[in-house]
Amino acid sequence: MKHPVIGLCLLGSLILFSCNPKTQVSGSWTLSPQPRSVVENGESYVVKKALPAGVKTCLDATLGQELKPFQQAECYRLDVTGKGITLTAATEVGILRGMQTLEKALPASLGADEVAVLPGATVFDYPEFPYRAFMLDCGRHFFPVETVKKVIDILALHQINEFHWHLSEDQGWRLEIKKYPKLTEVGSWRAGSPVPGQKGHDGVPVSGFYTQEEVRDIVAYAATKGIEVIPEIDLPGHMKAALASYPELGCTGGPYEVACEYGVLDDVLCAGREHTLQFVLDVLDEVMDLFPSRYIHLGGDECPKVRWEACPHCQAKIKELGLKADGHKSAEELLQSWFMDQAVAHLEARDRRAIIWNDVLVDWSNEVIGAPSRKAVIAGWMRPVSTDIAVREGYDAILCPVGHLYLSAGDGNALKGEAYFRRVYDLNVKPEGLTPKQQDHILGVEACLWSERVPNEQDLLWKLLPRLAAVSELQWSAPEGRNYEGFLPRLQRMEALYTARGWNWNPAE
Ligand code: ACM
Ligand code: ZN
Repeated sequence: MKHPVIGLCLLGSLILFSCNPKTQVSGSWTLSPQPRSVVENGESYVVKKALPAGVKTCLDATLGQELKPFQQAECYRLDVTGKGITLTAATEVGILRGMQTLEKALPASLGADEVAVLPGATVFDYPEFPYRAFMLDCGRHFFPVETVKKVIDILALHQINEFHWHLSEDQGWRLEIKKYPKLTEVGSWRAGSPVPGQKGHDGVPVSGFYTQEEVRDIVAYAATKGIEVIPEIDLPGHMKAALASYPELGCTGGPYEVACEYGVLDDVLCAGREHTLQFVLDVLDEVMDLFPSRYIHLGGDECPKVRWEACPHCQAKIKELGLKADGHKSAEELLQSWFMDQAVAHLEARDRRAIIWNDVLVDWSNEVIGAPSRKAVIAGWMRPVSTDIAVREGYDAILCPVGHLYLSAGDGNALKGEAYFRRVYDLNVKPEGLTPKQQDHILGVEACLWSERVPNEQDLLWKLLPRLAAVSELQWSAPEGRNYEGFLPRLQRMEALYTARGWNWNPAE
C-alpha cells in the first residue's frame, strides 16, 4: 500500500503509526461482474468508518443520461480518493448497486488489527440487461425464511435484481392463500420423495409454506437490496397439490394426492370449468396484494393435454370458443393459450405483466404450437432458440435455457467447472440472426435452480456457488467486457467473499 507520509518525515510516520497502528489490507477493483469502467488514480482511501457511514451519496438525475432509459435506473459512479468516497447515482437503486460494488471491493475479511484500504479510482457502471433473475423452486423442497433471505443476500452480491420465487408445484403448495386455506392445510405436505431407480417413495414427509406475513417480510427484505420478488403460480400444469386440496378444480374431480413423484404429471387444472378460472383469478388477487412486483409468473410449462382431450368441460369450452386445430397448434394447445390469456389480462388490468414459460408458445421441436397474448413475456427455457423464436413472433422474452442456466447439475446440464463456465460464457444472449429491434425484445437472462435433488440449504448453496458468478457476468456485463481469461481471478475474489460470509460453495467448480 502506498504511504505518502512515511518517507517524508520520521515524526509524521510516528504520529501516523500511533494513530493508526493497524495493518492495511488492500481491497481490489477486480470484481465479478467487472464494473464497466475503472480508472485508478493512484490514491488510496483508508476505511476508518464502516460503510456506508464513510460514503457520501448523492442522486444526480443526469448521470447516465446518454444511456438507454432502462439502464439509467441502476447506473452509478464511485469516486474514491484519499479524502473519501462519493457514490453518485440517478436513483436509489443505483445507490444500492454502487454500495454492492463497494462491499465487494473491500477485503473479504479483516483481522482485529487490520484496516481496509481501497485503491483510489473512478468507477462507472450500469447493467447490460434490465432483467437479471434467479429462480428458486420451493415446491419440490421447502426452504425456510432464513434460507430464502440468505439467497437474496447472495443475489445482491451478484447484482441480480429479480428473485423469481417458484411457489406452487405438484409436490407442494407453499403460499398461504386466505380464500383457499386447504391449499396449505392439505397441499403443503407430501408423504415422501422418490428414490432414484426404485418404485414408490422414501416415506420421509416434506412440508412447509410461507405465511402472508412471512412473504411481506421477505418482499420488504429484498427491496432493501434493490431486488424485486416475482412470485410464480404455475398454471395449469404442475398443480397436483392444488388438486389434492380442491379436487373440483380438475377434469376428473379426483381424488388426488400431493405428488410423491417428480416429472410431468397428467392431472392438471380443468380449463373448461368456470370455478377453476375463478380460483386462478382469486389466487392472483391475493398474490398481487402480497407482491408489488411489476412481473407475476404464471408458469404454463409441461401441461399434458390428455385430461383435456377426454374432459366434457374442456371440450365444450373449445367448442364455445371456436378453437380449431391449425398446423402445429392443436385445439387443446389453443385452449391453454386462452386459459393463460385470462390470467394475463387479469394482471394487465391491474398494471402487472405476466411471464410464461415458452411451452405455451413453442415446443421442443421449435414449432409454434400456441398463440398466447403478446402482453405476456416468454421465458425461453428449452433451448436458446426458444427465446429467439419468441422475439421473432413479436414477444418480449427472457433467456433461461436448461443446458446453460439451470444450475442444478443433472437437470440437463451435467457440465462442471471450466466446461460449465465456458458454456455460460459462450452463450450469445443476442444472436446475430435477430434484427437489432428483435434483440431489444430480449429483456434479460435468468438462472433457475430446481429442487428435486436439493433438499436443504447446504445443497442449495453448493449448487448455486460459484456458478452464479458466471451467470451474473452474462447478465450484467456487456459482451465486449466479458472475457473468460479475466473471469478466473474475478472468480477467486468472489470465492473469498463466499468463504468470509460462511456460504457453502463448491470448490470443485
Ligand atoms: C421448466 O423447466 N419446466 C420450466
Ligand atoms: Zn377439463
